[in-house]
Amino acid sequence: RPRVLSGIQPTADSFHFGNYLGAVRQYVSLQETHDAFIFVADLHAITMQHDPKLLAERTRISAAQLIAAGLDPARTTLFVQSHVLAHTQLAWVLQCLAGFGEARRMTQFKDKSAKEGEGAASVGLFTYPILQAADILLYRPQYVPVGEDQRQHLELTRDLAQRFNHRYAKTFRLPEPYILKETAKIADLADPTRKMSKSSSSPAGIIEMLDEPARSAKKVRSAVTDSDAVVAYDPETKPGVSNLLTIFAALTGRGVEEIAASFEGRGYGDLKGELAEVVVEFVTPFRDRTLELLEDRTALDAILRDGAERAAAVADTTLAQVYERVGFLSPS
Ligand code: TYM
Repeated sequence: RPRVLSGIQPTADSFHFGNYLGAVRQYVSLQETHDAFIFVADLHAITMQHDPKLLAERTRISAAQLIAAGLDPARTTLFVQSHVLAHTQLAWVLQCLAGFGEARRMTQFKDKSAKEGEGAASVGLFTYPILQAADILLYRPQYVPVGEDQRQHLELTRDLAQRFNHRYAKTFRLPEPYILKETAKIADLADPTRKMSKSSSSPAGIIEMLDEPARSAKKVRSAVTDSDAVVAYDPETKPGVSNLLTIFAALTGRGVEEIAASFEGRGYGDLKGELAEVVVEFVTPFRDRTLELLEDRTALDAILRDGAERAAAVADTTLAQVYERVGFLSPS
């Protein structure tokens, strides 16, 4: 079975619809046909200011959400990034291979460091994509399911893999991004020209998977649209309505055009009202399941311990090859 790998950060109390539709849903469907490795990226979560009192619990909540979404820990190797030491170890080797210039060109770094203020961004935020490359390359996956915002990091990963293979010996597989066009960029409900984001969306713009369903319904009903009142799919001229149609289609398995046609002669109020119902029906069982999983922390922690063991068995093998090829003296 071809392998897939991906990670998600525990930077908030809940995943949002962008995370779910852009990435998590693909992890779940790919586990049917692929050997899947999915992890909670807690190392990445400290690259920006974070609250140490919340991180461990958010890591558990993230794992619970992944299981509630449908990941089966018996099939998918589900683990916490910091539990597998090889990630930071390979990251160091790759940092010594990456150029300062190519790291500086990463648009996510530019955006996030601008937000932190001149000179205040951490060096970890700068090397973030290189740690991400290490996360990926350790497992030699064929595909990495992510949203559109991660495409550039995947390109850097491939560049670093190629450089290592060329300089030392063929060690890494060049991974391909797995990005579903339809849901690659879910927009902010309050500002549909921007992506829905944990770090930059306003509360009205972001639907949180674990929020009170009634609150999410209300956000859908207050979503920003346009003044033209015709329900049609056109992301260029009607980003707000198109985003609602995208979410509607993803949650129901119907097509955007077909949904738009079913609202012919009706207005945005009807579209928002129906979508609000679809959203409530979807998040209610998801939320219940997550909360149920969080009631048994011992069981959850055991799943993550088992996942880390399985992950480390793969990652350590790759790291040992890397250390040898780089020329390190092996400890005897
Ligand atoms: P994170 O936690 O920011 O996001 C998790 C996943 O959600 C996707 N995503 C979106 N997709 C569509 N529309 C949106 N509005 C939206 N917002 C977020 C992201 O693209 C991502 O796939 N760097 C990664 C975490 C990571 C990782 C890795 C991923 C660390 N190591 C190795 C893959 C492989 C990130 O920012 O995740």
